[in-house]
Amino acid sequence: MIHALFAKETGQRLEYGAILVELKHFVEAVQAFREEEGKGLNVTVPFKRDAWRLVDERSEAAALAGAVNTILIREDGTLYGDNTDGVGMVRDIRDNLGVTITGKRVLVLGAGGAVRGVLGPLLEEKPAEVVIANRTPDRAQELADAFEDYGRVDGSSFADLDGSRYDIVINGTSASLKGEVPPLPEGILARDAFCYDMMYGAEPTAFMRWAEEEGCDHVADGLGMLVEQAAESFLLWRGVRPHTTSVIQAVREALVKE
Ligand code: ATR
Repeated sequence: MIHALFAKETGQRLEYGAILVELKHFVEAVQAFREEEGKGLNVTVPFKRDAWRLVDERSEAAALAGAVNTILIREDGTLYGDNTDGVGMVRDIRDNLGVTITGKRVLVLGAGGAVRGVLGPLLEEKPAEVVIANRTPDRAQELADAFEDYGRVDGSSFADLDGSRYDIVINGTSASLKGEVPPLPEGILARDAFCYDMMYGAEPTAFMRWAEEEGCDHVADGLGMLVEQAAESFLLWRGVRPHTTSVIQAVREALVKE
């Protein structure tokens, strides 16, 4: 739906569909698509890492993220891998939702692939600091170490957040999928804090409800991120960046109606 709307808006002709791939058959699936003269792919969980391994060349964002969500199949058949998740998230937060990241204290929840994918573009906005908190604190620390050259970034457990306050809290755990919220100490939101869930749904997520209960009145889910990462992919494939505002609105309406 997103890419069909982009194509209409930019006057491009394209066919975009979904391919369900069996575990362990990712490489064959890409091969088959290339033989059918496919031009580009988005890759989602759980194949972003396989895509990163498979491509012939990676963008800097993909190299840093350790994951590829967008493949461009070039004329000569070689594969170029990019990762548009992080840029997509930053564009949604900064441009669509009007939240400045620069100079802010940012807390990121989770230390899996989803979080790794967004840290580079997040740090590029020059927040005052980024703290990664995770159920398994060692994973948070490892991730913080991997990004230490890109800004001030530390790892933490959830309990150790007690006593600190953050301007922006981004949920990148998969807890939301199960309707769970990480065990966060009370009072970690600064005044006028902004809370963002990388997940999205027809209803507010468990994390969004937690934020509201903590008195936060600027809360958003990741639907805009989904549309923005798609727009970045579209740009890579077509050389034109579609407008996203009306598309986010249309996708929201379709989601609520489902
Ligand atoms: P993804 O690629 O979606 O990030 P992942 O690599 O499996 O998936 O990472 C899932 C993240 O959600 C991890 O940070 C995980 O914490 P652990 O590293 O401790 O496993 C976190 N997570 C999943 N369920 C959670 C829950 N119920 N409470 C808190 N964190 C949770």
